Amino acid sequence: MDYAATREEALARIAAAQDLDALEKLRVEFLGKQGSVSLLLKTLGAMSPEERRSTGPQIHALREGVSDALTARKTALEGAALEARLANESVDLTLPAPEAPRGSIHPVSQVLDELAEIFADLGFAVATGPEIEDDWHNFTALNIPESHPARAMHDTFYFPDSDTEGRRMLLRTHTSPVQIRSMLEQGAPIRIIAPGRVYRSDSDATHTPMFHQVEGLVIDKGIHLGHLKWTLETFLKAFFERDDIVLRLRPSYFPFTEPSVEVDVGFAQVNGADGKSRRVLGGCGDAPGHGWMELLGSGMVNRKVIEAGGLDPDEWQGFAFGIGVDRLAMLKYGMDDLRAFFDGDVRWLAHYGFSAFDVPTLSAGVGAGA
Ligand code: DAH
Repeated sequence: MDYAATREEALARIAAAQDLDALEKLRVEFLGKQGSVSLLLKTLGAMSPEERRSTGPQIHALREGVSDALTARKTALEGAALEARLANESVDLTLPAPEAPRGSIHPVSQVLDELAEIFADLGFAVATGPEIEDDWHNFTALNIPESHPARAMHDTFYFPDSDTEGRRMLLRTHTSPVQIRSMLEQGAPIRIIAPGRVYRSDSDATHTPMFHQVEGLVIDKGIHLGHLKWTLETFLKAFFERDDIVLRLRPSYFPFTEPSVEVDVGFAQVNGADGKSRRVLGGCGDAPGHGWMELLGSGMVNRKVIEAGGLDPDEWQGFAFGIGVDRLAMLKYGMDDLRAFFDGDVRWLAHYGFSAFDVPTLSAGVGAGA
């Protein structure tokens, strides 16, 4: 059999395929289970060793040549199809606006606006950092060295390549690297919040591979835990629009803070009109019918982190905190499945979204519809 001629003929037919359907038919004809090339491969088993030695490489070369040609033609046809779509489709931006306003503000955007409004009033600026980070900013500078178990705990998405300085690249697992970037970029004193997307390989009703956090950082002279507690209390009262918010600070551990505290908020268990029991924030969690709910992590910034930020920890101190923004939205606006936040279902958005005209302001009340 003339394998070279068979190959030439197959390649010519592949090159002449006019669309993806025709190409798929050829793939099945050559490489499908009953395809002509697949059947040739099967004949190898029945050959004598000598025959196989001389024929095997030819059949394999034939299969490889056909397979490569199919891939190349597929890429070319797909490219051409995209070009054609781009040339044909258009958006007419001069069309008149709809009679009634359409679309809505996503609850996460709403909460981010509310956070910015509340913290701006306390003198905080909004800082940002890259979502594609390096492991120095995301871990090492935050006192999480290479061997630290917290690195594994974060379920990190890594990129295959390192940057030019040999640092591993990753999708940031928290907003804390913005602490380091802010210190290095602006020096002290600092008062910032850093809201944004973060990524972890995790997914269920309360975890999605992408979610949102807001980081807070204050660096100044003579900062202590009392400042942290007052700031969080003032923020949470404004955010939940209740004066009876009660916090409980629990000793905890984060590599980037020392001491570290986890903050719980008191809630009451109440029976709704539908007979279902709900949690309503407010009041002391130790009171009868009340409980504590974990809300955020925080602490006094670790000396090593202040040093990594290029500042002298004997001169500057500070506190930091990190909160899940989606969780705040769920608590305030009563959603129970986080995955629905990112499905893009317009019915969900119509139900939970906010009017674009409801801009959160402290004077009008930061809550939507106030
Ligand atoms: N980065 C932490 C996390 O993602 C949250 C956090 C805890 C941030 C304590 C802080 C902090 O700034 O002080 O789980």
